[in-house]
Amino acid sequence: MVVPRLIERKRDGAALSGDEWRALIRAYATNEVPEYQMAAMAMAVFFRGLEPAELSALTDAMLGSGDRLRFAGERRPRIDKHSTGGVGDKTSLLLAPMLAACGVLVPMMSGRGLGHTGGTLDKLEAIPGFTTGLSLRDTEAQVRALGLAMIGQTAEIAPADRKLYALRDVTATVESIPLISASIMSKKLAEGLTGLVLDVKFGSGAFLPEPERALELAKTMIDLGAARGCPTVALITAMDRPLGIACGNALEVAEAIAGLHGAGPADLMTVTYALGIEMLLLAGVDPDGPAARRRLEQTVRDGSALAAFARMVAAQGGDAATIEHPERLPRAPVQRDVPAEADGIVTRVEPRALGRAIIDLGGGRHEVTDVVLPDVGLEVPAKPGQRVQRGDILAVVHARNAAQAGAAVTAVRAAITVGDTAPDVLPLIAWRVTTAGATPYGGS
Ligand code: URA
Repeated sequence: MVVPRLIERKRDGAALSGDEWRALIRAYATNEVPEYQMAAMAMAVFFRGLEPAELSALTDAMLGSGDRLRFAGERRPRIDKHSTGGVGDKTSLLLAPMLAACGVLVPMMSGRGLGHTGGTLDKLEAIPGFTTGLSLRDTEAQVRALGLAMIGQTAEIAPADRKLYALRDVTATVESIPLISASIMSKKLAEGLTGLVLDVKFGSGAFLPEPERALELAKTMIDLGAARGCPTVALITAMDRPLGIACGNALEVAEAIAGLHGAGPADLMTVTYALGIEMLLLAGVDPDGPAARRRLEQTVRDGSALAAFARMVAAQGGDAATIEHPERLPRAPVQRDVPAEADGIVTRVEPRALGRAIIDLGGGRHEVTDVVLPDVGLEVPAKPGQRVQRGDILAVVHARNAAQAGAAVTAVRAAITVGDTAPDVLPLIAWRVTTAGATPYGGS
């Protein structure tokens, strides 16, 4: 294999063979192909895309570069949910315990904050003592015993993707549909699932804002899953405003706990139930959406979802008392209200800018090595289209000190605008996508 010739062919729009992709990824994973050559290849793929056969070979090669979760002899369905990333999106924290309480196994492998978006692992680690670093064998045992585990990508899972992802992050090659699809699906397929639900975001705060691109990403991942015995369904959901109110690690855990008590914000619960229904349908637990919804609501009403969450927290070293008493979660010392300065209609609640403000507060990373603060963040009750009066609270900043709070207030003021005209707001859940294609959500 002469790597410069492969790069050259991809650069000029040719398709590489499956054998070539397999050899390249194998050599990259073992450091025989240097990062600079892989960076050039990633950029060639970014511009030229991949043929379906190339995408399959790349996905399988990345999956095959590592180990996977094994559930031999396990007859219960195993379903995960994956979001392409947003601000305030804590649905995973609700769904894993709700599904476990329905008898579905949830081996959930999540990521850290990326760009302006938050990460489930960072949120979970806001719970004192909680560890997301379980080995694959310990994860399997916990999933079998408790019905759920929430872990990070271990060094054993798709190591080629781990390397390639870090490389893409610093070479402006993240926003490529085939590269995102191969990256996400190589990890999800390593979880030994019987079904996968994708929450593909669109709108200004999504990695791929245009709906057409979100739909194409969904379809690409669905086809990869289906062809590998992992039925996959996607919902295309709005990320032109944060989901729920809480944005920031401990704040989001507290909001998820409120949701498990039946007191979550309406938009968060709508998306959570919609995704949960898809998970139960894929699991074959319920025959239709309304039955699945009733089952999920029951896990909230009878406390079984909250109990499953507390059991998982205790098993993964976390202080389960914080689940019963969320007021014991880390709380930033400074809170500053951001009130509306005039009467009007909220015209914009820009997630990208809010996500960046959270990073500046220390709630996310500028550099991979940055330590994430659990307690800082924003509460953003303002929603686009909402009528407000002067003095109404648009947001609350949670900061470590007054200077950082002041800077965040300025950023929030720029991100949330109030005007005279009602804005166009994206539908919260726009489409449902299956192997058969996309249908408007709620439509047929
Ligand atoms: N998340 C991933 O795991 N990979 C990508 O490429 C993008 C988001």
